[in-house]
Amino acid sequence: MQKPEHIAIIMDGNGRWAQRRGKERFEGHIAGARTVEQIVEDADDLGVKQLTLYCLSSENWKRPKAELDALMILLKSYVIDQRPRMMEKSVQFKMIGRRKGIPEDVLAEIDKTIELTAANTGIILCLAINYGSRGELRDACSRIAAELADPQKREDLLRRSGAGSIDELITEQFISEHLYTAPYKDPDLLIRTAGEFRLSNYLLWQVSYAEIWITPVLWPDFCKATLEEAIADFGKRTRKFGGLPGQDQSVL
Ligand code: IPE
Ligand code: IPE
Ligand code: MG
Repeated sequence: MQKPEHIAIIMDGNGRWAQRRGKERFEGHIAGARTVEQIVEDADDLGVKQLTLYCLSSENWKRPKAELDALMILLKSYVIDQRPRMMEKSVQFKMIGRRKGIPEDVLAEIDKTIELTAANTGIILCLAINYGSRGELRDACSRIAAELADPQKREDLLRRSGAGSIDELITEQFISEHLYTAPYKDPDLLIRTAGEFRLSNYLLWQVSYAEIWITPVLWPDFCKATLEEAIADFGKRTRKFGGLPGQDQSVL
């Protein structure tokens, strides 16, 4: 049965989980962070090669300051506290998103964890923090424009790619290489919890051909059995990439 190598998750429903228990929203985020700790291990056990988790969208800054402060404290303690476990499990810790806007002290701890785990060879855990897909595409356009405006860089790019013109140079691959996700393959499976049927500005380019699985389970209640259910459902999907069932995708 086909298995997803890269799973992206929109971890939604922390607030509702807290609300249903008469708790404050931040308590839902604390419970959600515990789920993250567990699900990284479960995904690893199940043979998943990469998890890309939506932790904070660029639009989430609209939320009350107290909630955002609590999220930053949680994030910082997560990347500090999980270091020994990440080393034990050989997790490669990564981040995507816009650095500007994330508090310096949080960024410093994120960077330390990225550095510490850089030579690990196990599951890639990529956190999307201050991430928005449209912002990512804007940033890519800006970088591409700057490279092409520099005559030396433009010549190098054209020579190395063998392209005869700017139009030939700007392939889909070229754009992918300018996204935050450049080092990673596209997600095979996109999971959204808490029953919302929307993408909320997550990986719009990268999930073009991902299989989508939506569950009413709220993120703090998500567990290994839920992940297994999603993976089993993925196993039954027929991926065609615009072709016909059973066709060899490598020739497309
Ligand atoms: C997801 O849970 C976590 C973040 C967006 C940071 P929510 O906080 O969006 O939970 P709901 O949607 O209010 O239940
Ligand atoms: C998406 O959830 C962002 C994260 C899970 C970090 P939201 O709760 O922010 O999405 P909307 O507002 O319901 O679309
Ligand atoms: Mg939400």
